[in-house]
Amino acid sequence: MEYLRQLHKAAQDRDFYSDLRVVDEIPYPEIVIGGKPYLCLCSNNYLGLATHPEVKKAAVEAVERYGIGTCESRWVAGNLKILEELEAAIAEFKKEPAALIFQSGYAANIGIIPAIMDSFEGLGLPTIDNDENLIIKDYLSHISVVDGCRLSRSPTKTFKHNDMNHLEMILKRSQAKRKLILTDGVFSMDGDFAPLPDIVSLARRYGAMVMVDDAHATGIIGENGRGTPEFFHVEGEIDFEMGTMSKALGAMGGFVTGPPDVLGTLRMRSHPFMFSSSLPPEQAAGILAALRIIRNNPGLRDNLWKNVHRFKEGLKQIGFSLSNSETQIIPIIIGDVEKTIRMSRLLFERGILASAISWPAVAANQSRIRCTVIATHTFSQIDRALDIFREVGKESGVI
Ligand SMILES: Cc1ncc(COP(=O)(O)O)c(C=O)c1O
Repeated sequence: MEYLRQLHKAAQDRDFYSDLRVVDEIPYPEIVIGGKPYLCLCSNNYLGLATHPEVKKAAVEAVERYGIGTCESRWVAGNLKILEELEAAIAEFKKEPAALIFQSGYAANIGIIPAIMDSFEGLGLPTIDNDENLIIKDYLSHISVVDGCRLSRSPTKTFKHNDMNHLEMILKRSQAKRKLILTDGVFSMDGDFAPLPDIVSLARRYGAMVMVDDAHATGIIGENGRGTPEFFHVEGEIDFEMGTMSKALGAMGGFVTGPPDVLGTLRMRSHPFMFSSSLPPEQAAGILAALRIIRNNPGLRDNLWKNVHRFKEGLKQIGFSLSNSETQIIPIIIGDVEKTIRMSRLLFERGILASAISWPAVAANQSRIRCTVIATHTFSQIDRALDIFREVGKESGVI
């Protein structure tokens, strides 16, 4: 206990973790904190669907019909029809044979990865020991992927971010019976893409499976928003496409797609699926509505990309360093933690919510303001934000 108190004090003394703000309301793209509206430039609600009237209506109707929770795992009494409908709708949206849903993207990753690498004891089939596995993940993989690897109890190696030579070197040297390559489709803190075609071809050459965490691509990347496999024309070649409903779909939840029999195995081996209560019905109803809106309104994605372009170009002109961002995730790299926190606070004082991200989310010398733009920002909001970023960047000594 004493040690935990000391840690808390040390974090406070160094001014870490002190900006856990209390949000009153979220009328995106603004957000109300302490009764005052702030322009939100850090939400993953990329298409603005979290507060879309049709999404809200669908969710409210589901609450009326089912209540707010299932209070059970799907294996017991929590397998509502609407959850099966959602799985069918996700499979259709992704043009994949089947989908399996989870309570969150985090739950999906910590469930799926150990299930894929399971030793399959107890069914009378030949087993594969955990130490005969090899997981190879990108250095910038999301922490839920990292935790999934840990829970799988499988040897895990990390290749340098997007470095295909390094990945190949690890694959070439491996004698593992079962290999799994893990990458994010769009990296959550840098906004760059993984080179999926190269990863797929290395996987085929060295007999490895591939799983892509497409949390930040689902709904927005690719011509129809199906994600990075669509964008890179490798649909059907990724063994496991994982995604979340907590970003562009505006809700909560995670999923994985694949053949129905393979997902059948994941379903019986994945602990969050088996031992945790299922996704609440109103979330499923809201996500179903969000998928319909995405299908019928491709213009929403156009708005997003116009906004992204305007904001990014403006920031570059001001002189900020944006790392290798290729998407809606726009990191302003500052490096120094204190300077990053100072800039985020100055932005807040002038009505902008843009969070400082530092260790452990990114390396200690890579602190940044992680900005995101959404489809429902207006050009005048973006231009106002750019003026404030210019002033604050100068005041905090970043530019
Ligand atoms: C790449 C990635 N994967 C998984 C997750 C977890 O998703 P969720 O918030 O739905 O648990 C996140 C969340 O930020 C993420 O960025």
